[in-house]
Amino acid sequence: MKKIIVTGGTGYIGSHTCVELINSGFEVIIIDDLSNSTIEVLDGIKKITGIKPEFYKIDLANAKETLRCFDTINNISGVIHFAAYKAVGESVSLPLKYYKNNLNSLINILETMQGKSFKNLIFSSSCTVYGQAEKLPVTEQSPIIKADSPYGNTKQISEEIIYDTINSTENLKAISLRYFNPIGAHESAEIGELPIGEPNNLVPYITQTAAGIRKQLRIFGNDYNTPDGTAIRDYIHVTDLAKAHISALSRLVNNENKTNYEVFNIGTGKGDSVLEVVNTFEKVTGIKLNYKIVNRRPGDIEQIWADTSYSEKNLRSKTEKSLGDALLSAWNWEKKYRNIT
Ligand code: UD1
Repeated sequence: MKKIIVTGGTGYIGSHTCVELINSGFEVIIIDDLSNSTIEVLDGIKKITGIKPEFYKIDLANAKETLRCFDTINNISGVIHFAAYKAVGESVSLPLKYYKNNLNSLINILETMQGKSFKNLIFSSSCTVYGQAEKLPVTEQSPIIKADSPYGNTKQISEEIIYDTINSTENLKAISLRYFNPIGAHESAEIGELPIGEPNNLVPYITQTAAGIRKQLRIFGNDYNTPDGTAIRDYIHVTDLAKAHISALSRLVNNENKTNYEVFNIGTGKGDSVLEVVNTFEKVTGIKLNYKIVNRRPGDIEQIWADTSYSEKNLRSKTEKSLGDALLSAWNWEKKYRNIT
């Protein structure tokens, strides 16, 4: 059984990926500092898979702690590195918090890997690296433009750090997955998206508004140059996104990679506006959402969606679930978590 370290494995995308890894026969070891997740997520993973992954509470930005932790784990096949801060707005007011955590943790992992025998790394990147692309949909070759936020910049710099390290280190291999907008929850509703405090992202805001925890959803801007005036994103079901990690990992483990560093878009290839998301949520759940249109949110781009042809062909990764499926699963998770009948 191949042993995989999942950093950030109690987080939103991390936990769903742990489930898919276990279901695909991998042994999962989670490293997380629990700064934006809770230890109970391990119970959710166990309820779904029957296995509670081994867990280490470690600050990966601390080089000594990182090395000490990796030293205690034998026969590792690869690392999937999710652990990072991700609130775009907060990164603007606290840039050093983001640079310190997101970059140091990656550097510490790469440095540890240089001295060890496990050589496969999957990195969580983001479509944020494309900024507001001139040409849509974006391909992996679309230009990387200056990041709008320190968060986005940490993703751009991280990709460069990985590229340079791979080029100078024999045998080290990595894949960066550029995620579009992950939403939804596991079909069992045992794990889902549980941001600490007020959500920044659209779908948890919607489900928390429907659950009565938030008074009203604000739609940030209806004066964009889009068919209904609201911004467009490519929303991918988190389970589809999680499965893409298994394809990417298998590609590295089975030496099917074309070069030692590869990049893939992980989205659905379809763009939906904020209003379309709200309308679809109302349709699949039968709940009327309380919302109002407010000013644009600073730093938001107008529209983006993925060209997924390269990842579909090379990762054999195709999305299966629709926007409605994803929104319904997010609501089912919120209901179960809040004991709403
Ligand atoms: C952003 C980042 C993405 C990152 C993600 C993680 C960019 C371009 N994208 O995604 O890389 O991985 O955060 O947090 O930097 N909206 C509302 N009301 C709300 C919340 C959101 O109208 O209460 C709108 C936003 O204006 C946007 C859309 O919903 O148009 C999606 O927003 P969100 O879920 O926050 O994701 P992004 O900003 O696209």
